[in-house]
Amino acid sequence: MYAQEVKSTGEAVKSLKEMSPEERAFQEKIDAGVKIEPKDWMPEGYRKTLIRQISQHAHSEIVGELPEGNWITRAPTLERKAILLAKVQDEAGHGLYLYCAAETLGVSRDEMTEQLLSGKAKYSSIFNYPTLTWADIGAIGWLVDGAAIMNQVPLQRCSYGPYSRAMIRICKEESFHQRQGYAIMMQLMKGDAAQREMAQDALNRWWWPSLMMFGPSDADSVHSAQSMAWKIKQNTNDELRQKFVDQTVPQAEFIGLKIPDPDLKWNEEKGGYDFGEIDWNEFHEVLKGNGPCNKERMEARRKAWNDGAWFRDGLMAHAKKRAAKKIAAE
Ligand code: 3HC
Repeated sequence: MYAQEVKSTGEAVKSLKEMSPEERAFQEKIDAGVKIEPKDWMPEGYRKTLIRQISQHAHSEIVGELPEGNWITRAPTLERKAILLAKVQDEAGHGLYLYCAAETLGVSRDEMTEQLLSGKAKYSSIFNYPTLTWADIGAIGWLVDGAAIMNQVPLQRCSYGPYSRAMIRICKEESFHQRQGYAIMMQLMKGDAAQREMAQDALNRWWWPSLMMFGPSDADSVHSAQSMAWKIKQNTNDELRQKFVDQTVPQAEFIGLKIPDPDLKWNEEKGGYDFGEIDWNEFHEVLKGNGPCNKERMEARRKAWNDGAWFRDGLMAHAKKRAAKKIAAE
């Protein structure tokens, strides 16, 4: 009945027999592909995991602007500066759609921000790596946004209406992000030896962290089984990771880049690439806050939140005044 039984170390997925009549009716809606809307009854666990995933996704969009914003003033041409500016602005908009989608589940922006700043909520591990050269901006667009598209296209079919609709708009813009990144790498690979080396160095540093974006292996995924039963997730972490590798390796080879994985090999039987073991210790260290840029990213988010307090207070005061005026006029 479920997309597939995913081996997971997480919470056990209830069978229909074990469900209450409300849970059973809800699951039957999910299995029939009916979208769940904010006012519909939903199990508390469904609401909670959506708040967790959507807010983490929104945090990732906003924190993801930091590594790229670092290069807006140093882009090599006016055209590249304009493209990067447009991309960073898009990411801010993605964060907005996603925070709004999460708010329909009864959590406020302030609560979500407090959860991020206190470390209770996560953002994607990938944004804890530094952008050392201009080629990193190409690698981020090509690999990070490429991985994001792989993971986000299925989310357009997510069972929760507001999330699924936000993803449709986001995915259209992500495709531009991925293409502009690949175009940077293509241009560098047509350049001189130093430029080619810069592109290869960026691929070497961003390849493995991009594979980690898809989450832990299926055997170690805590939430996959339940998220797939609720059609929040349509595919497992490993499935999407494999699709990303199979799509990206030919792109690298086409422009003369070498994937930094000595174990990468085409497997005719499986119709995909076999690849080396991911350094899960690095992944968990980054998740624990010990990545190269975790501290810097959180300091930047904390400063932005504190610096913007006067503006939020002003908006609230204005909104309260208008509301009071409206009531007085009634
Ligand atoms: N970074 C940080 N935490 C991660 C992670 C990553 N790359 N991958 C997994 N985790 C965390 C999970 O959040 C969970 O921790 P939690 O219980 O404290 O939340 C734990 O590791 C176990 O992982 P699971 O596989 O069980 O968790 P999920 O079922 O939530 O799967 C996911 C993880 C695939 C990232 C899923 O949450 C997801 O699809 N999220 C939506 C997409 C998203 O957030 N993408 C991040 C990048 S956004 C982006 O790239 C912007 C683009 O414009 C560049």
